[in-house]
Amino acid sequence: MKKIIVTGGSGFIGSNLINFLIKKRYFVINIDKLTYSSNNFKNKIRNIKNYKLIRLDIANRSKLTENIKKFKPVAIFNLAAETHVDRSIDGPKSFIHTNINGTFSLLESLRFLKKKKISPKLIHISTDEVFGDIPRGKRSDENHQYAPSSPYSASKASADHLVKSYIRTFKLNAVISNCCNNYGPFQFPEKLIPKMISNIFSNRELPIYAKGKNSREWIHVVDHCEALFRLYLKGKNGESYNVGTGKNLTNIDLVKRILKICKSMKIKIGNKTKIKFVKDRPGHDFRYALNNSKIFKKLKWKSKIDFDIGLKETIIWYKNNKKIFSRTLKNNYEKRLGLKL
Ligand code: NAD
Ligand code: TYD
Repeated sequence: MKKIIVTGGSGFIGSNLINFLIKKRYFVINIDKLTYSSNNFKNKIRNIKNYKLIRLDIANRSKLTENIKKFKPVAIFNLAAETHVDRSIDGPKSFIHTNINGTFSLLESLRFLKKKKISPKLIHISTDEVFGDIPRGKRSDENHQYAPSSPYSASKASADHLVKSYIRTFKLNAVISNCCNNYGPFQFPEKLIPKMISNIFSNRELPIYAKGKNSREWIHVVDHCEALFRLYLKGKNGESYNVGTGKNLTNIDLVKRILKICKSMKIKIGNKTKIKFVKDRPGHDFRYALNNSKIFKKLKWKSKIDFDIGLKETIIWYKNNKKIFSRTLKNNYEKRLGLKL
């Protein structure tokens, strides 16, 4: 059985990717530090034979190298990251640690192991946020200039530059994906979609930054996993690929859609559940939009899941898995972040 290492496999996208890879009959080793955003999905698959969780910080280079050497995976998907923009405004340090130093540690491990003839393909997972604000009517392709706005996106951009330098200088076997906003099961409820769903379920206000006109491109996490798998199988060494759907929505339209779907499902909308416009996020990017023609033309990938269907399924999933919200409420994770300047 071929082995694959997923870093950050207890997070939102990582959990979904591991489910996907296990179904494809890979042995998956999940290397995760188990930070606040990781979920207890490990309990569900702990007993599966072709899965192993190793609790480890990817910045611990010697232990990371030891594990790559031990398991000799055919590929490593690097998803370990600090991911919430608002948190990166309050405290950028952990973002620099994991997203930059962690990626550096992984790259150094791979540089060392290449000399020992161990060279798994690295699929480094990045984001559309590295391109910064994209004006209306335009979409960023893979050659668009990097112009990150937040400490989060700057740390992701730095990691991408490091990966690109290792590809060019040390001939590392790697590809980069730059994906748009994901939604689906297992997302930590500090992000827009699960936060709004959680607030509806618990009769709380729906806080929207500024006037809700900021626009994001949305993809179902399973579509993203399929694209990542395609990058592993067919992605050309050294290349970056945008992973997008071409479908943008303003935040206000998105929240209204969530409310509409909840009403159609007869989910109770309490008297406190009202849209509330709140202070804007500092440095808030107005719009992200990817040009995804490269992955379509070169790898024949395109997203399949219709947004309204995917969104409804996501709401149903959260309805059936309400306990994902209990830790958030208990630890006050839903309080407003990112305003401490
Ligand atoms: P997440 O916050 O849900 O999960 C991150 C995981 O990484 C957690 O399980 C956490 O415990 C782990 N982790 C954090 N620091 C670590 C460290 N030092 N060592 C090992 N593990 C560590 O994030 P996500 O939404 O699943 O995002 C995964 C990746 O995808 C990130 O690189 C993110 O930038 C990228 N991405 C996310 C989106 C999105 O919309 N969620 C979009 C594009 C790209
Ligand atoms: P988020 O889920 O944090 O993702 P990102 O900023 O990485 O795209 O936020 C998505 C959008 O929703 C972004 O424009 C900020 C906005 N937003 C709100 O309006 N209210 C909220 O409570 C949150 C968390 C986000």
